Amino acid sequence: MKKKIALLSMCIIAAALQAACSSGTQNISTTSYASSVPDTLYTDTMADGSVAEYSGSSQSSKESDDTISQAESSFVQSEQQSEQWTEENSLPPEEQSVPESSTVNSDTVSSSAESSSEATSTPAESRSAVPTESSINSPESSARAHESSSEQYETIPENHSAPTESSISQEETTHPESSVPESSMIPESIAQNDIFSSIIREESNESSIVNIKRCRIRVDDLVYTGYNLTPTVIVTYNGRTLAKGTDYRIKYSSVPKNIGKNVLTVIMMGNFEGSESYAYMVRPEGTSITDYTAKVSRLVVNWQNKSKAVDRYSIQYSTDKNFSSGNVNTIVTQSTSLLLKDLPQNAEYYFRIRTFVFMGDDRVYSEWSDTVKIALKKVEVIDGVTVIDGMIIANKTYALPSSYGNGLTPEAENAFYKMQSAAAKDGISLYIVSGFRSYSTQDYTYHYFVNDRGRAEADRVSARPGHSEHQTGLAMDINSTSFSFVGTPEAKWLAANCVKYGFIVRYPEGKEQITGYRYEPWHLRYLGIDKAKEIDDSGLTVEEFLGITSQYAD
Ligand code: DAL
Ligand code: ZN
Repeated sequence: MKKKIALLSMCIIAAALQAACSSGTQNISTTSYASSVPDTLYTDTMADGSVAEYSGSSQSSKESDDTISQAESSFVQSEQQSEQWTEENSLPPEEQSVPESSTVNSDTVSSSAESSSEATSTPAESRSAVPTESSINSPESSARAHESSSEQYETIPENHSAPTESSISQEETTHPESSVPESSMIPESIAQNDIFSSIIREESNESSIVNIKRCRIRVDDLVYTGYNLTPTVIVTYNGRTLAKGTDYRIKYSSVPKNIGKNVLTVIMMGNFEGSESYAYMVRPEGTSITDYTAKVSRLVVNWQNKSKAVDRYSIQYSTDKNFSSGNVNTIVTQSTSLLLKDLPQNAEYYFRIRTFVFMGDDRVYSEWSDTVKIALKKVEVIDGVTVIDGMIIANKTYALPSSYGNGLTPEAENAFYKMQSAAAKDGISLYIVSGFRSYSTQDYTYHYFVNDRGRAEADRVSARPGHSEHQTGLAMDINSTSFSFVGTPEAKWLAANCVKYGFIVRYPEGKEQITGYRYEPWHLRYLGIDKAKEIDDSGLTVEEFLGITSQYAD
């Protein structure tokens, strides 16, 4: 009788606690869900694997991206929540109806051998049986669950029949003494720290069973590996990690190897009671940014190909490294490369990428990759002189002020002398035939060519005043400005060695459409050794390296 009073007291207090906590401190689900973004919002592009191309100034692209971005950002939020222990029930509505101590019918569980055997051999299961419907189980299986629970009611001895209040009745009838061995009553260590248990102890001088709602449960997501993995489940009570097999067991509602949402049920046992269902995700393999190139107004980002494992990539870029502001762009593609063009000058972006697979109308995402910061090549205009990526630029697009320049810079001149000495040791004689040319000198030179061969042909070989590199004091013509220089030992020596002294052949063969000028093996541009080497290694012209044009406005 004393035992019965204790049990009754326990149930009353349990019901009170449960009511007090029903606003959301019980179900701890760490799992996030695939967001539902309609197919029509995809800016899906390159099924053939080519670069996905986006223009920073394209309004339609922006709108489309923003829409996706919003949809995704809500998911991002749920992902962030999933990182933490949370006392909020983040199960979707259909899952929330799972009762605190629902029966998990073993018929409905497609589980591992381990969980199957658990399902049939543990006395705690019968203790936790409550005849109620679980939406996790199919309607059919819910019916079966109800049936089996009803059967259990029939087996409850009369002397355990309930007091008048139905809620109390349920609690008591579902926890008959016979199903709670005395030896499994709550141990001293738990009861000492537990107010609930203390109250029981005062009233009845006996330990009690702790409900699952008083435990914290964390279920981690998994990454799909092709193997039948199970998620990490950590159950704690009062800061103590409970033991699987002693304090709880787990049932899986599906074999947890498939990508997508899976459900498991934690069924408390021993000194604990109740069960809860938790959803967790088996996520696809992620990817990572492997390399990128940045120019003045465009950039290309590349990432690891995971096309065998995933359906799409979702790449985000933002000026905010936390991607928390509204200024987040999202692009969905099948390509492993993204080109963004027409970007604002001197922009800096943070990039991150994740993969996803389609599950019906939903997407199941991987984790985000590490964030990579990409800065466009810096453009500065100092006293009318354009400096890009640290280089003074004079070409058909970028002009110098007419007053600029007063001779070869000492650095460029010294670099030439060093090169000259080295060449001499190889039997090569080098000398400057044209170094610095002022605006007015270039005006004279250009018009000489215009008079000689017309404007169109002059523009192929001579810069208009203000547009010549010779005005920078960093360019020089070596030995000759005639095509007879092509193929000479001097021209070959320059092509092979000038980079060591900080020079590049500025107007290479076959690049007239890019540089704006015909091949000039004699025209060297001084950049300093590091920058000259960087550009030489790239195999690109200055215009290509920076992503700039060389075209007159008129
Ligand atoms: N010959 C080069 C293009 C100049 O005139 O600057
Ligand atoms: Zn020149």
